Amino acid sequence: MKTRGVLIAGNWKMNFTLRETGEFFAKVKGDAAKALPASASSAFATGRLRACVIPPMLSLGRAMEAAREAAFPIAVAAQNAHWEKKGAFTGELSGPMLQELGISWVLNGHSERRQYFGETDETVRKRTESLLEQGFRVILCIGETREEREKGRTTEVLTRQLSGALPEAGKGAAKFLDGRLVIAYEPVWAIGTGLTATPAQAEEAHATLRKLLTDRFGSEAASHTPLLYGGSVTPENADSLLACPNVDGALVGGASLKPESFLALLAAGARACAQS
Ligand code: PGA
Repeated sequence: MKTRGVLIAGNWKMNFTLRETGEFFAKVKGDAAKALPASASSAFATGRLRACVIPPMLSLGRAMEAAREAAFPIAVAAQNAHWEKKGAFTGELSGPMLQELGISWVLNGHSERRQYFGETDETVRKRTESLLEQGFRVILCIGETREEREKGRTTEVLTRQLSGALPEAGKGAAKFLDGRLVIAYEPVWAIGTGLTATPAQAEEAHATLRKLLTDRFGSEAASHTPLLYGGSVTPENADSLLACPNVDGALVGGASLKPESFLALLAAGARACAQS
């Protein structure tokens, strides 16, 4: 039973110019009717199936315009935002700038931000706190490296990253009760490598995360928190991953860049919703 529905989020990373952004949306709109099963329209209408794209900063405005004209609801998320609302932070963008564009979703703590741009559990936590406070929906990414998995340290790493990225229960628990916080489990060894966690590995990690959230915030808050799997998700493996009880959607990089495979992933999401 998909009690939290299914969210398919496409992380475009540093891909697509403004022109390509327009072309992507046009193709998705043109092909939606034939690519999606009949059950998709009611799943979108009830909010059980949700679509999201995460374009680079420069394309956010164009993506928002195109999303307003789309054949089905498509949320637009920013790949990053600073925790301060304004100030001397060259190269950053802030929550109020996104809000003016109508953007209410932000990705946070992606492993590429951690690996290449010095993000730490501490900066990720500051962003989680501030953005939730400002009313955003936050997709918080965590996941172990290959070495950590091979050494049997997966649970330890997930525990550290999750608790390091969330405010203390006493300080901010109420903010998590409404489903605005989404956690993406993305094993680093599976990102962009073509290696995917098996459904059993994904479910095991997600069940661990659900328990950590329950211990910290109670079962009600934990049961409202969607848990996405990310790491080489494709139309071919999406059905088996989305069939896992604790997998509430997917965060997809490479396979989300082709309109036809983005639609195929949404079709898998619609099938998962219909089965429950
Ligand atoms: P991938 O990327 O689907 O290309 O592995 C996933 C991600 O980094 O979010």
